[in-house]
Formats: sequence, C-alpha cells, structure tokens
Amino acid sequence: STSNLAYSVGVTLDRFIKMKQDDFPFASGELSQLLRDIALASKIVNRETNRAGLSNIGGAFGNTNIQGEEQQKLDVIANIRFTRALTKGGEVCAVVSEEDDEVIDLQNKSGKYVVAIDPLDGSSNIDVNISIGTIFSIYRRVTPIGSPIQAEDIMQPGSQQVAAGYVLYGSSTMMVYTTGNGVNGFTYEPSLGEFFLSHPNMSAPDNGKIYSINEGTSNLFEPGLNKYIETCKQREYSARYIGSLVADFHRNLLKGGIYIYPATSKAPNGKLRLLYEANALSFIAEQSGGKASDGAQRILDILPQSLHQRTPLYIGSKKMVEEVEEVLRNYR
Ligand code: AHG
Ligand code: MN
Ligand code: MN
Ligand code: MN
Repeated sequence: STSNLAYSVGVTLDRFIKMKQDDFPFASGELSQLLRDIALASKIVNRETNRAGLSNIGGAFGNTNIQGEEQQKLDVIANIRFTRALTKGGEVCAVVSEEDDEVIDLQNKSGKYVVAIDPLDGSSNIDVNISIGTIFSIYRRVTPIGSPIQAEDIMQPGSQQVAAGYVLYGSSTMMVYTTGNGVNGFTYEPSLGEFFLSHPNMSAPDNGKIYSINEGTSNLFEPGLNKYIETCKQREYSARYIGSLVADFHRNLLKGGIYIYPATSKAPNGKLRLLYEANALSFIAEQSGGKASDGAQRILDILPQSLHQRTPLYIGSKKMVEEVEEVLRNYR
C-alpha cells in the first residue's frame, strides 16, 4: 500500500502528507495544506536564522513582550513569517502566539483550524549561534465555521490537538510532527528546498540517563525535586541543558532522557507556556511512547484558563517521568 512506501527514505514531506491523507479518504485536505503552510514558513525562517549574523537581524528588537521578555528581532520576524503563511494558507481562523498579547483573529470565514505557536523557541541562543526552534499546536475550532471566534475555540485542553510539531534549526534543520498516528521526523535539504523523511516512526526510549534542568535555581526547588536530581547524580547520569526547549526535547526523544522546567518558590507555575510549548511537545512525547506532566497531572488534561499561562513541565522517557513524579509525591 502507499503507507509502507512512505517509510522508504527519499520521501519528501509533501509526498508523505499526501500518502498519509490517502489513509484518511474522508479528510478533505485542509490539515494537509496547513502542514505544508507551516513547512513553508519554517523554510523561510530557516534561511533568516542562518543569515542572522550577517543581515543585521540579530539582537534585540527593542520591545518587551507580554512574557516580560526582551523580544529579539528574530522572534518578531519568525512571528510575522508564520502568521503571514497561516493567513495566506487559508485554513486557519485564529492564531495564539507567544509574541502577541491577544488572539490573532485572521478574519477567515472558512478557516476550520486554530494554531498556537511559539515562533522562535530559545531566543536567548540566537546571538550565540546555538540551536533554536519553532513549536506549534493545531486544533479544530469548536464553534460553527464562519462565526466569531469564541474562547472555547482557543482554550482547548492539549488532548484536543489534531496535530502538533516542532522545527529544530540545528546543525541540520528538522521538522518533527504528529497527527495522532505516531511521530515522524523530516530533515531539510536546503539545496533542494525540501524536507525528506529521515526519522520514520520515532519512538522515545522507555528510560534514559540524561537529565535536562537549569540547576541555577535549585535552592528554589521543592525538596522532592532536589532528591531526584541527587539520585541522577548518584547514578552518574549526564546533565545536558541547552536553553532551547526544542533542542533538549529532541535529543531526549532520540537518546532517552527527561527535561524538567519546575515550579519554584519564586515562579510557582514555572516558566514554560501551556498553549504553545508544553501542549505540543506533550502530544509528541505521548505519541512516541513518552510521558509529560506538570509533576502531578498529565499536561494534555490541563484546561487552559488564560492565553499565556505557564505550567511546570516534566517531559521525556516514560519511566523517568514516572520516577520523578513518585519522588515528588513522597516529599509533598
Ligand atoms: P522562548 O525563547 O520561546 O521564550 O523559550 C525559552 C524557554 C525554553 O526554550 C528554554 O528551555 C527555557 O526557556 C530556558 O529557560 P532558562 O533560561 O530560565 O533556563
Ligand atoms: Mn520568549
Ligand atoms: Mn519557547
Ligand atoms: Mn519563543
């Protein structure tokens, strides 16, 4: 059948999307088109990223975003590129972006989908030439198509995602996504302008020996978390923390590991945002056999209360997330 052909390397993202759509005859192709629109924008952002140092688009933009962060020029550029691609693509009615205070209503009467996006993840790494990424979640709107966008279209739990993915602008640029039937990774060939299937059916190792956490604020961590970190050190695990969630997540997905951005006494909800960071990567984690929680509850079950709400995030190899949850419980 076409689907096993999809797993022969040399399949482009476009061809793969088409094959997968053939597996769902009822699908009318809008989601396929939306994935292509996102891939197109990522090719443009990839080119900007690779030239940032030369084309004076490095450094700060001069604004502070709603997160209280100093926006980098590439944050703003990536936000414009993705929002414009989604607007032109015609499949999306609303966008939630880390870089926009309010929901962006695309005034699209036929748009079936809502996209939540972190256009540029790991902004502090742009000017020091370390890997950065893009993270996206895709939902179907729940109110009638063509009617005004309502809160229930936007404030959906992560379990309602129809697709999610990330782009990693690293030593090579990759796009990894799921539509709920497993996770597939594509590597970009710039000379051809195409993403090629390079990591079919990605599956997270059940356990791992890598932990990713910023220990700089460990004096603000809850006791159970410090106990777990102590255990990692007794077992001589590797500490790897890149400062770009997408890069840490991707390495842990391939090699096994856990990424933790915890609650602290100063930031009781942690730092990462539920709608456009935690939900997308949690969908991918679960679809590849991993796990994602806020330390206690499943990320995908959290009902959002506000657009930019933050959540603690424990994500990666299933056994590692289960172990740290157990230790946290014992010390709470
Ligand atoms: P963003 O650049 O989109 O704001 O996200 C940055 C996030 C995440 O990518 C990274 O792992 C984390 O912030 C790093 O935070 P600390 O510098 O506090 O460790
Ligand atoms: Mn940011
Ligand atoms: Mn981010
Ligand atoms: Mn960002």
